[in-house]
Amino acid sequence: MEEELRRRKLEEALEVKSLRRIISAYLNYPEAAEEDIRRYERCFRRLPPAHKALLSSQPHKFQKLRWCISQNSYFIFEMLKAFEPPLDMSQDIDISEDRYMENDTDKHLFSGETSLLPRSGSKTDKPHFAFSSEEGGNEIYRSTKPETVSEVSLEKKIESLNGDAGRCSMGSEYKGKAENAGVNGFQSVKNHPPVSCVHDGGGHVSSSPDWLEPSLQYHVPLVDVDKVRCIIRNIVRDWASEGQKEREECYKPILKELERLFPSRSRESPPACLVPGAGLGRLALEISSLGFISQGNEFSYYMMICSSFILNNCQVPDEWTIYPWIHSNCNSLSDDDQLRPVSVPDIHPASAGITEGFSMCGGDFVEVYSDTSQVGVWDAVVTCFFLDTAHNIVEYIEIISIILKSGGVWINLGPLLYHFADTYNQGEEMSIELSLEDVKRVALHYGFKIEKESIIETTYTTNPRSMMQNRYYAAFWTMRKKPATGERK
Ligand SMILES: C[S@@+](CC[C@H](N)C(=O)[O-])C[C@H]1O[C@@H](n2cnc3c(N)ncnc32)[C@H](O)[C@@H]1O
Repeated sequence: MEEELRRRKLEEALEVKSLRRIISAYLNYPEAAEEDIRRYERCFRRLPPAHKALLSSQPHKFQKLRWCISQNSYFIFEMLKAFEPPLDMSQDIDISEDRYMENDTDKHLFSGETSLLPRSGSKTDKPHFAFSSEEGGNEIYRSTKPETVSEVSLEKKIESLNGDAGRCSMGSEYKGKAENAGVNGFQSVKNHPPVSCVHDGGGHVSSSPDWLEPSLQYHVPLVDVDKVRCIIRNIVRDWASEGQKEREECYKPILKELERLFPSRSRESPPACLVPGAGLGRLALEISSLGFISQGNEFSYYMMICSSFILNNCQVPDEWTIYPWIHSNCNSLSDDDQLRPVSVPDIHPASAGITEGFSMCGGDFVEVYSDTSQVGVWDAVVTCFFLDTAHNIVEYIEIISIILKSGGVWINLGPLLYHFADTYNQGEEMSIELSLEDVKRVALHYGFKIEKESIIETTYTTNPRSMMQNRYYAAFWTMRKKPATGERK
């Protein structure tokens, strides 16, 4: 008993530490981006005068980049302020002796894709990610242990959105950067104040939560800040008009297939659909809007913090302006392209006509859905760019088969770019890498019958105006779980 308690406490402490690291990565974003600009400036200064004269607009571009960074930082900071950690962030693990976390610190928690949640052998009854309060909570998120599919009343939760737009207060590091940011001709974009603090009516500075205190943050490796940049690109995929084409290619075929397979979706008893690896939640939301009880599952706090903000806190379309493409000078057709603003979200999530029961469930797919309460619960499982995140894809397929109702459908779209393949320095990382042919063979073994399959050409978080466009030829299929022998179709 005592042993169990100690184990849980340790687990929670590790989660707090991991969450701090992710928050720190977000908070380190402006500093890391500023460092890039300083590098550009150093290189520029080394040019011979004649070359400098030829490129006289470069210093102005660097200033514009600073402005864009301050805007992105502002968005990030407001997002963090809106976040309600599901853990007691005041409990401390000693971070004093390890202020700079090396790459492989917390390896067991940060295997590959950064996850807050231990990947194995650590089931707890306590929710890992319980954002919502019992009564009147306005968030969609809830615990990792979904007892029944329909227990969360999303409409109620998403209805009473609260927002705090226009205010900010931030740590001193960020403040310094933001104050530098004004650039003539670059302030006319519709956006929020780039400067550090806004006073409320009573002359008070709006304060940020204790756990955002700069003194509590880690110095994180750049690879963590890179993840923040990836999230910014993911925001475009899911929540910007610029992402429309990608969504048409990836989400539309799935949505059309769901509509075809479930032509009559009654309000009284809507079909239930699970979206593992839901990313920033757009696909899960679209499925909900079609009349399904939809649950997204996601294990990355990077993603969860951001999707929670967009789903729960954004109050109008185009509320925020971000600059997603500023972090690469490569393959730009023009500086204007690189510096162009993107408005998000393209829709107001709470007005998207969601079906009651929409939820986002934090946690590792394997851990959460191998729970016995999940057996035969789902009418449909939708995996989009998810299957190849597995350490063991066979386990994913097995679980999908188990949690589907008899006769339920599995719709998949994505490549097989196994996330744990070729991971340098992580030789012991488990990674089963099967060909498409073998994946289908495994699926047949677990009782699936292929009803439809094709290849879909698409991109993933690609800058549509870049001179480089990586394209995937993604497998798209619908499989049906065969009814058990003796069972009627
Ligand atoms: C390539 S992204 C795809 C996101 C989204 N489906 C889309 O199409 O934009 C894969 C997502 O799966 C999540 N993920 C990876 N492994 C997971 C796991 N074991 N359990 C839950 N989510 C996981 C990642 O954090 C990431 O958000």
